[in-house]
Amino acid sequence: MKLHETSGDDPWHFARPELAGTYLDAFDLKLSSARGLFARRRMGKTEFLQQDLLPAARARGYLIAYTNLWESRAEPDVALVSALTDALSPQGVRAVLSALGKPVRKVKAGAKIPGGVEGTLEAELGTDQSGLALREVLKQIDKQKKPLLLVIDEAQVLAHAENSDFAHALRAGLDVRKDRIKVIFAGSSETTLRAMFARASEPFYNWAALEPFPLLGVEFVDYTIKLMNSMARNRLKLQQGVHAFSELHSTPEFFKRFVERYMLYQLQGAEAALSHTKATVFSDEQFNKQWSAMNPADQGVLTLIALGDSGVHSAAGLSRLTELLGRPVNKSTASHALRRLQQDNAVTRLAIGDYRIEDEAFAEWIRRKAAAEW
Ligand SMILES: Nc1ncnc2c1ncn2[C@@H]1O[C@H](COP(=O)(O)OP(=O)(O)OP(=O)(O)O)[C@@H](O)[C@H]1O
Ligand SMILES: [Mg+2]
Repeated sequence: MKLHETSGDDPWHFARPELAGTYLDAFDLKLSSARGLFARRRMGKTEFLQQDLLPAARARGYLIAYTNLWESRAEPDVALVSALTDALSPQGVRAVLSALGKPVRKVKAGAKIPGGVEGTLEAELGTDQSGLALREVLKQIDKQKKPLLLVIDEAQVLAHAENSDFAHALRAGLDVRKDRIKVIFAGSSETTLRAMFARASEPFYNWAALEPFPLLGVEFVDYTIKLMNSMARNRLKLQQGVHAFSELHSTPEFFKRFVERYMLYQLQGAEAALSHTKATVFSDEQFNKQWSAMNPADQGVLTLIALGDSGVHSAAGLSRLTELLGRPVNKSTASHALRRLQQDNAVTRLAIGDYRIEDEAFAEWIRRKAAAEW
């Protein structure tokens, strides 16, 4: 995925310069060279990383590289190497390509931004060469005067078993460059990220401190409501905004949909805009699709988790599942479903026997569906 170079163009973006500054200060102090951030889905991680952190890093004299591994989960190694290559000058890119024995004519000499290099490299680079390409790119980065900030969004993909070799190579490459390459790992699955950094067998064991990403709160609501009031005929009070934000589970994406709905139908009032927003975000067509694609055991387990029922594996949980599925269910059915749901990032394990649905909107949709059916 390409980095948004257009930060500042979106008036609705609530900028968080202090937060960006805090992360960069910590790197400057050399207290750490890597951090891991997690927050649930749609809470604003990607927007912060792309629109606040990376531009701030660039302004402080960093080269910057961003990659979203979920979007390229089939070839995360290629995506990561391409992102690193994007930070290089055209000469650097040419050097990497020729070290790999690839034609270099596609990279225009003297081009400021290597046009289409990402596409070129992705096309040229097979996964079989990604380890070598990584080494070459890092060598070129060593020749740059500036330090580099590498942001790996949806980093949990690196924890998948099939990416283990590349993850080890990446860790080795970054290990010897802690002075000059700072890394932010971000993701929505806290469990997987934790496993990445806390398990001795994992390549990134003890490599980054893992911490919750600070969520947007009342300042964000205040900013958005003020901006909206500057355009709306019927103004809203901050309190009304705060109420809507909380009803929408403090999810910035949904709050912006509420604001949009209110703007378009001001005469209907804030409560009407809120119920409309809830009805659309919590009953998305998307959820229907997601739901129908799952097998009944997964659906049953998700329902139990959404309803906050005690342990899926407990006798009570299993008999509830039996009831939901209309056939006898044993522990291994439940365990298999849980494993699949975690693998697909639908569910996170918080503690033994304690699970959570990653997407709060989906959880709410499931609760509504269950309520309607019983
Ligand atoms: N700082 C912000 N100012 C204004 N709106 C924001 C901000 N952060 C997030 N949003 C809104 O919330 C939406 C979701 O944010 P974003 O995609 O960054 O979440 P995320 O945490 O990366 O989610 P996911 O885990 O699904 O990738 C954005 O598209 C935007 O509408
Ligand atoms: Mg994101």
